[in-house]
Amino acid sequence: MIDVLVAVGHGWESRLVTAIDEVPGVRVARRCPDLADLLAAVAAGHGDVAIVSADLRGVGRDAVARMSGDGVAVVGASAEGDEPSERVLRQLGVETVVHPGLDRDELRERLGTAARSTARRADETQVDAGGPGGVGDDGKVADDEPVRGRVVAVWGPTGAPGRTTVAVGVASEAAALGVPTVLLDLDTYGASVAQALSMLDESPGIAAAARASELGTLDLVSLARLAPEVAPGLRVVSGVVSPQRWPELRASAVEQVLELARGLAPLVVLDLGFCVEEDEELSYDTAAPRRNATTLTALAVADDLLVVGAGDPVGLQRLVRAVQSLASVPSPQPRTVVNKVRAAAVGPDPRRRISESLERFAGLTGLVFVPDDPAATDAAMLAGATLAESAPSSPARLALRALAADLLDVEVPRAERHERRGLRRARTRSR
Ligand SMILES: Nc1ncnc2c1ncn2[C@@H]1O[C@H](COP(=O)(O)OP(=O)(O)OP(=O)(O)O)[C@@H](O)[C@H]1O
Ligand SMILES: [Mg+2]
Repeated sequence: MIDVLVAVGHGWESRLVTAIDEVPGVRVARRCPDLADLLAAVAAGHGDVAIVSADLRGVGRDAVARMSGDGVAVVGASAEGDEPSERVLRQLGVETVVHPGLDRDELRERLGTAARSTARRADETQVDAGGPGGVGDDGKVADDEPVRGRVVAVWGPTGAPGRTTVAVGVASEAAALGVPTVLLDLDTYGASVAQALSMLDESPGIAAAARASELGTLDLVSLARLAPEVAPGLRVVSGVVSPQRWPELRASAVEQVLELARGLAPLVVLDLGFCVEEDEELSYDTAAPRRNATTLTALAVADDLLVVGAGDPVGLQRLVRAVQSLASVPSPQPRTVVNKVRAAAVGPDPRRRISESLERFAGLTGLVFVPDDPAATDAAMLAGATLAESAPSSPARLALRALAADLLDVEVPRAERHERRGLRRARTRSR
């Protein structure tokens, strides 16, 4: 017997219920007045199939994903020939749609197939509980394949170690090296990419993308519209305007945005908030939005991870703890970036000292160093520009460009290297 939960706010709801009840082997277990009632019935295990209409208040990809995750097949309902509703339902991730006018056999076929395929998927997920597959591509995409960008997450502990500086630096350098890039500000505590790149405060960005995702209207074209090109080859999706608005970013919406972002450019760079703790006080309520869900979702889908720490005693200790805290969080193998490196903070020969202590205390090797360079980073911030634009030969810029080139496995063009050596010679002579 297939138990069906119906949450359809239309005059034809009762016709649909009667038609379903006439199908042998299928029965309507509950008629739900709203989405909350439906989710409760699903969570309580009262149904095999949940039927929703596109205009059910509050229904979105998040609700559909949650019900599917609970092993319940979500089926759409629309009036016959209501194409726009069907399109919205498909964008919400609903594959099967029924109408009140369908005959018994057709209803049995559609509801039965949906219930069986969801049950099969639930079984497969249990057997194959692996993480998301890596893309493993070098940023170059074959012409005949759709673009599937590689996601590089930039994360790090509290204390403003330079996550945004590194994310903006890597993204802009990658674009300048010829790899189109989209940079997303997913910091739910203090978004700052828009300000760093002098974009309009009101640029709709990630909140609008998440809202469209919830409504089932987000696609590649609409995401591209929310990701203006701020420099050749560099698109930016700005962050939540005020930090209190973090609840607008639901995990499933962030997931869809990231999946679509991979289609926008071969490289996707994420500026993330510092915290990866589960919001434990909320864990009893699985429907509540969680502030760190955005960071956790991003870490889970990323292909590469840069963990940024500040090169002073407190920053380094926080960096060690941050890397340790990743052990319990699904995430790619981290690569450590030590920023603001200076002798004044840790003593002479700071790179050697930092390497030794991070290896001893956390087993971290292969560090990337970005020198302390307040003149360059302040100038960039003041101009609302990238380091490449405002301080092209600064030590911080050169380190970030080398990091981007290394991530992409490309060479910095020879002409630029010569120009750099020339600049260095000129500077040395003038000292
Ligand atoms: N290599 C550097 N040398 C000197 N100053 C730097 C360097 N990198 C970043 N800064 C400065 O440190 C401050 C914090 O940098 P940034 O905003 O990138 O950090 P964050 O980790 O993103 O912080 P938040 O927690 O605010 O998101 C900024 O004023 C920035 O200009
Ligand atoms: Mg930041």
